[in-house]
Amino acid sequence: MDKTTLLTKKPGPIGVFDSGYGGLTILEKIREELPEYDYIYLGDNARTPYGTRSFDVVYKYTLECVQKLFGMGCHLVILACNTASAKALRSIQQIDLPRLDPERRVLGVIRPTVEAVGELTTSRHIGLLATSGTVQSNSYPLEIAKLYKDITVASEACPLWVPLIENNEHNSDGADYFVRKNLENLLKADNQIDAIMLGCTHYPLLISKIEQYLPKDIKIVSQGKLVAASLSDYLKRHPEIEKKCTKGSDIRYFTTESVEKFSTSASIFLNENIKAEHIDIE
Ligand code: DGL
Repeated sequence: MDKTTLLTKKPGPIGVFDSGYGGLTILEKIREELPEYDYIYLGDNARTPYGTRSFDVVYKYTLECVQKLFGMGCHLVILACNTASAKALRSIQQIDLPRLDPERRVLGVIRPTVEAVGELTTSRHIGLLATSGTVQSNSYPLEIAKLYKDITVASEACPLWVPLIENNEHNSDGADYFVRKNLENLLKADNQIDAIMLGCTHYPLLISKIEQYLPKDIKIVSQGKLVAASLSDYLKRHPEIEKKCTKGSDIRYFTTESVEKFSTSASIFLNENIKAEHIDIE
């Protein structure tokens, strides 16, 4: 079926997508910065994690979720997921948007993070903590090289961090073990690092453990505020998109998995009472 014929021209909410709960850390900051807009959050919890999956699978899953959000009336979708931003964003922008609707927009989280990091490092040695998929894609070092020729990036894939969070085990002793181990690996790879990027939107949920095991003089670059500021700037520069985003301060949460599980975990993560709705992709 050609889904383009079903898309409404009417203004709609801003879509925020992640493979699971991680994008909530971005949505929270976006809502603080831009509380007047309506939002739809879509967590593909049934198919999380994306970080260990191939390029083709992440692209397929992400595109399906973006189309779902377009079908729900969103004209602007934020991929609040580094793995999807690294593996699917460019193809969606270049191949799918012209075909689906050239007037809709999909934005990612890597560029706003990279833009900020240059200001934060003195040693010009930075670290990246991310999923295996984001690390293997090399997207961060490539983006950094475009903006800052003098910055060296050491990367550490943390494949167990997302499953710990998705299973609500991020405050457990098991989480301590893996956080300490991955941070040690990163600092062993480059002992001049003075700033670390959290290149996965789930990781702010582990922030207290990361801070506990990281030397105090190393700065942590967390994405939420950076992405929110960048979105605010984008909407000012693109009034043609801004006017397609409805304003009623409404928020709806959709998950491809169990509504009860999502509502309970998301309520804990965001510290507010959340009632999710189920959605099937396909
Ligand atoms: N939160 C996502 C990211 O930023 C993805 C995690 C996953 O599904 O592996 O990369």
